[in-house]
Amino acid sequence: MANILCIGAGYVGGPTMAVIAKNCPQHRVVVVDINEAKIAAWMSDDLPIYEPGLLEVVKAARGRNLFFSTEINKNIDEADIIFVSVNTPTKTFGRGAGKAADLQWWEKTARQIVDNSSHSKIVVEKSTLPVRTAEAMERILNSNDRGLHFDVLSNPEFLAEGTAVDDMEAPDRVLIGGRDTESGRKAVQALADVYATWIPRERILTTGLWSSELSKLVANAFLAQRVSSINAVSALCEKTEADVTEIAKAIGMDRRIGSNFLKAGVGFGGSCFQKDILNLVYLCQHYGLNEAAEYWEQVVKMNNWQQQRFVSEMITAMFNTVAGKRIALLGAAFKADTGDTRESPALAVCRSLLEERAHVVLSDPYALENARADLGKLADKVIFEPDPYKATEGAHAIAVLTDWKAYAKLDFARMFKSMTHPAFVFDGRNILDRKALFDLGFNVYAIGKPAMTHFENGK
Ligand code: NAD
Ligand code: UGA
Repeated sequence: MANILCIGAGYVGGPTMAVIAKNCPQHRVVVVDINEAKIAAWMSDDLPIYEPGLLEVVKAARGRNLFFSTEINKNIDEADIIFVSVNTPTKTFGRGAGKAADLQWWEKTARQIVDNSSHSKIVVEKSTLPVRTAEAMERILNSNDRGLHFDVLSNPEFLAEGTAVDDMEAPDRVLIGGRDTESGRKAVQALADVYATWIPRERILTTGLWSSELSKLVANAFLAQRVSSINAVSALCEKTEADVTEIAKAIGMDRRIGSNFLKAGVGFGGSCFQKDILNLVYLCQHYGLNEAAEYWEQVVKMNNWQQQRFVSEMITAMFNTVAGKRIALLGAAFKADTGDTRESPALAVCRSLLEERAHVVLSDPYALENARADLGKLADKVIFEPDPYKATEGAHAIAVLTDWKAYAKLDFARMFKSMTHPAFVFDGRNILDRKALFDLGFNVYAIGKPAMTHFENGK
């Protein structure tokens, strides 16, 4: 039996520890956070994050071998293995501002661990970090004068929001990086044994520390790069009447390319893709690899362009002005099946439309509370309406910005009747039946597809 602790009860800490606790009744798992409201929510049936299947997993283990707490110091002392899953956002100040990772929460945690430990421990980097962070972590932890030894491991998390439980239950791989020393190898083995309770050994990959840390940044960079690549193609499709969905299918059938992550849309969002690529860019620049830095930075530039291009198309289509027009945005979350709005393209579109003085109505089944908080002062200018039918009443246009499955099944005939005409649909996720909408009377615009309009010159 091991005492496992996770510091940070967010989108990663909560679900990963719940799945570990569910599958490993032999271990005691405690999740701590400085945020009392979050811990209280984890202890209730109203979890702090929306994630399909998560409540069932939490309920299966909570009170048995899964505990949530704000008592950080006491739990540090009791733990044998400590996962650190605190946030590592992009730095907003000083050296590396706008690109480098802000490691202040990370370092605070390391010092807290050493200050509150009375026996040696394994410390696991679960957060996504710049390569070689483990070295700094080792130095802080092992600079104690009490004879304590800390083994630092890198165990990056690859789960995606919306599928977090499935991703944790059956991951493509679990990556564990450690030192090639006797105690390093033992630590790697101890962590691998925890995962091996439910994950086949051949999916548990062990590497050196630096490869493990860097693999996480590279995996996100590759995934985001595919989205930016198909989005770049979508722009060309709109100019040439090629269809980006047909192209994605045609190229994706080549097994060397593969069919995943080729959905063109209004751009990628989420708390990590942009942050992790910028982190990679910063690392390349730090080592003087300017061409490599520029290469990866272009993935983010393309994403920003795609979001702005979408708004620009909306304005052009709506006779070059949206000022004073009611526009219903369907979706605030950065993707379906989550309430997370961090870096959501929906909010980028919302902000740009507000700048154009449109009357924006934002609708979403789960993400409106987070959207309101993220928009800050601008929230006063937005109408938040969970019911998509009410949101579209009297609107000049609908823009679909999150790929919620329910949006494809809406009664668009009913919406069309209640809207201002000519009525427009902008499908930022390519989930709607364009022909059916066009037949209802809508002017239809989608990503990487020819526009379908009822105007004489087709424009
Ligand atoms: P999050 O903001 O949801 O959660 C982080 C939590 O850490 C917060 O609740 C915060 O209160 C807590 N915290 C910060 N400092 C603390 C301290 N000193 N003591 C105790 N708690 C503290 O962030 P997240 O989305 O869970 O991401 C965490 C890390 O995991 C990041 O490095 C991220 O890049 C990485 N990651 C995230 C995802 C994802 O899908 N969100 C997936 C893989 C990896
Ligand atoms: C992503 C990675 O998929 C995870 O492996 C990783 O652990 C995580 O980042 C992280 O480090 O935080 P996540 O951001 O939760 O997971 O969700 P994704 O499914 O990757 O989607 C990211 C964004 O790309 C979304 O806005 C989504 O709509 C967009 N996307 C994705 C597309 O526009 N097209 C696609 O084909 C796929």
